[in-house]
Amino acid sequence: MRRAVCPGSFDPVTNGHLDIVERAASLFDEVTVAVLVNINKRGLFTVEERMDMLRETTAHFGNVVVDSFEGLLVDFCIERDIHAIVKGLRAVSDFDYELQMAQMNSRLAKVETVFVPTSPEYSFLASSLVKEVAAYGGDVSGLLPPSVLRLLTVRLAERAR
Ligand code: PNS
Repeated sequence: MRRAVCPGSFDPVTNGHLDIVERAASLFDEVTVAVLVNINKRGLFTVEERMDMLRETTAHFGNVVVDSFEGLLVDFCIERDIHAIVKGLRAVSDFDYELQMAQMNSRLAKVETVFVPTSPEYSFLASSLVKEVAAYGGDVSGLLPPSVLRLLTVRLAERAR
């Protein structure tokens, strides 16, 4: 079975992430969306909340599972018998760091990275930017699945109190 992982923070998942996951799911037999547990960085959503959103929004793909990981991504890949990492490239500015990580991951564990160009309509999209725009009342509909947008609106309102 050809397995791949789409790793990330997913705080929260955007339509840009889902575009990459969907395309990974068409290339591989099974895709694991893996949420990074970062003890040094508190997100807007907990890891469990992010995983729930991912489960709901990827269920229709049929061959996507959601998991979380701590530590090195390559260790997670080895444990799960995953041989490929799928990453979206939004612009040239993503490339330097992504190439560095890809080469390091290949060196560490011979896990290959497959770069998928982000669809042009999402090339500017980042979870951090969506949160900032939404926090100041900007319209981010169309950039997130509707259920995620609702949860984001509620969470930001709670935080603003
Ligand atoms: O959505 P993000 O925050 O840009 O995702 C970054 C992520 C999770 C893919 C990257 O930070 C990662 O792989 N972290 C796990 C730790 C690790 O393996 N570091 C060495 C990378 S060569």
